[in-house]
Amino acid sequence: MAITGVLRPGHFQMRVLDLQQSIDFYTNVIGLKEMGRDTQGRVYFKTQDERDHNSFIIREADEAGVDFVGFKVADQATLDKLDADLRAYGVHTERIAAGEMLETGERVRFEIPTGHQIELYAEKTDVGNGMPYVNPEVWVPDAKGINPVRFDHCLLYGPDIDGARKIFEDVLGFYLVEHVLMDDGEADLAIWLTCSNKAHDIAFVRHPEPGKLHHVSFLLESWEQVLRAADIMSMNRVSIDIGPTRHGVTRGTTIYAFDPSGNRFETFCGGYQTYPDQQPIKWTFDQVGPAVFYHDRKLNERFLSVVS
Ligand SMILES: [Fe+2]
Repeated sequence: MAITGVLRPGHFQMRVLDLQQSIDFYTNVIGLKEMGRDTQGRVYFKTQDERDHNSFIIREADEAGVDFVGFKVADQATLDKLDADLRAYGVHTERIAAGEMLETGERVRFEIPTGHQIELYAEKTDVGNGMPYVNPEVWVPDAKGINPVRFDHCLLYGPDIDGARKIFEDVLGFYLVEHVLMDDGEADLAIWLTCSNKAHDIAFVRHPEPGKLHHVSFLLESWEQVLRAADIMSMNRVSIDIGPTRHGVTRGTTIYAFDPSGNRFETFCGGYQTYPDQQPIKWTFDQVGPAVFYHDRKLNERFLSVVS
């Protein structure tokens, strides 16, 4: 498919309790590259293979959780159009000047009905992945830790997931890939949305508290890499929530674990490719177990109750 408009999740800013401990964790265990620090005390990372300057940003705070999720759009004209479209739809937007984040252009920020801050931007400096754009090798051999391919998606918890879905579908061009129904058989408990042909670019679960983070996710290249990630987590005494296992939803293979601040993260592989003409897959409430954890066929208590 031609990808236009919103291209992909591009950056994710998260709060941590101890900055230095988190820098050590994301550098040495996850294997991200530190790319810079700003005057606000934020620390910027990207994966080895990502080409834009940064994708994952942390700042120290008293509470863990997500500050905002940024999506890269095709160009400045698209940014201006989507800003106008959001306003016409009744969404209040604000512009954040270029340079407020390192190596990042102007951003359009707005709040969605789940209480999360979402951003759009068109420009982020291309610093490359350590290999030339002409005749590259296939990977850079100095990677540390789990070494994911990219920041891939996040799962957010908040109250009005229907309102959030409408903005993503009606204004930003996302479409529904899968959903899990509540026990009334009608309302959605959870939705998976994409702006590309990935099985999900963002997902939501209905939850009474606004603005919560369930997990931020990093893509790996293979199931073997998921197993290796679990080995690295164990070596480093990382608190694993569940896995390695597989989701029924998206069919991805996965591990959920917690960073030193209690933010849940996922390292995963796979998920099928989807297209906007395909009808969404629906899971009924009695099958929520295999939908989320296909092998165990039941949720663990932490999955629903622990958020940051
Ligand atoms: Fe995920």
